[in-house]
Amino acid sequence: MNDYFKALKITDNIYWVGAIDWQIRNFHGYNTSRGTTYNAYLVIDDKITLIDTVKKPFKDEFLSRIDSIIDPADIDYVISNHSEMDHSGLLPEIIDIAKPEKVIASNMGIKALHSHFHNLNYNIHAVKDGEVLNTGKYNINFFETRMLHWPDSMISYLAEEQILFSNDIFGMHLASLNIFDDEIEDYILFNESAKYFANIILPYSTFVSKAMHKLRSSNLELKYIATDHGPIWRKHISKILDLYEKWPLQEPTLKAVLIYHTMWGSTEKMSDAIAEGLASENIDVNVMPLNVSHRSDIATEVLDAGAIIFGTSVLNGNIFPASSDVLNYLNGLKPKNIIGFGFGSYGWSKSALDNLTTTLANDIGIELVGETIMSNYVPDKEILTKCYDQGVLVGKKLKEKCNETLEMRSMRIHS
Ligand code: FEO
Repeated sequence: MNDYFKALKITDNIYWVGAIDWQIRNFHGYNTSRGTTYNAYLVIDDKITLIDTVKKPFKDEFLSRIDSIIDPADIDYVISNHSEMDHSGLLPEIIDIAKPEKVIASNMGIKALHSHFHNLNYNIHAVKDGEVLNTGKYNINFFETRMLHWPDSMISYLAEEQILFSNDIFGMHLASLNIFDDEIEDYILFNESAKYFANIILPYSTFVSKAMHKLRSSNLELKYIATDHGPIWRKHISKILDLYEKWPLQEPTLKAVLIYHTMWGSTEKMSDAIAEGLASENIDVNVMPLNVSHRSDIATEVLDAGAIIFGTSVLNGNIFPASSDVLNYLNGLKPKNIIGFGFGSYGWSKSALDNLTTTLANDIGIELVGETIMSNYVPDKEILTKCYDQGVLVGKKLKEKCNETLEMRSMRIHS
């Protein structure tokens, strides 16, 4: 074992024993530009308890960090908050090494673990929402957080130390040996948190709001939120909780994301004219050309936007592949409260542009404004004027929607 990997202390009896993935840049299609961590935690009590494991290739690092505090064979309890293999990858190895008295997961977690590790011949103990595990002087409370972001997900709260082990939620992909939020620049923390929410959590926004309601009504005292990716929150706890209240609502803002792919510059010219129209209405426009924009950065920009305007070129009668990729990705994320339209340039078959609009409206759920703007080859002045005017139209509509949202919010406050 490599003895230079040490555990990091959170409190006198709680340690971070995770792994740092400095190299990863593609996590299931998510551009993890700052790497990530797989966090696991060791609770030293009468019953030594491990909370989650790490991705399998990080076995030496993980065991070495545990070994810097206790012999891994002395682990009594293992809590598996989530069966995805970045957190459960070394569960079979830990079971082999420690033969723990208890391995704990949610009911759904047990099913998922057995579906991942077909030879896991171990009696995993199911805990229900609200159950408590006593480890000696500590009590660990379990909260099921189904669909955040898998059906099996749960979180654990160690009351005596006021630590919430939140698994994936409140996390971010950020490799660092600084394990606390106050050791990292705020702009990095909140950009990476937003990116994580937009790319991983967004489709489950309804479940987030329910979980936040439950967390708030439980009145948990929180000194730490120890997530399974990125730093542990201790300074900005109220801010990250507020963001998890705000992000799922996806209230419209005066921001438009203008995404386009161009082959010979025609769609780009149209995009430029649309951007001018939007800007004339004081809309914050973020133009994202697909030859240089990653899908996960586009998703991040969409999180706080009120409009998506999508342009594509046409290749062999189809939406250009780079455009299809992002449309498919956005379809999975299902952003809400978004207006917009499609546009593009074609040569001899424009049905792909009709398909673009169908996808935007029927699959992704974008409320259409105006018409699909199509240019046969290079756009002329008339088409570019139409693009500008439709940018203006979206700008005006966005202002109306934002005003309606403000009025509704004010009515809620005063009712
Ligand atoms: Fe970080 Fe859903 O695993």
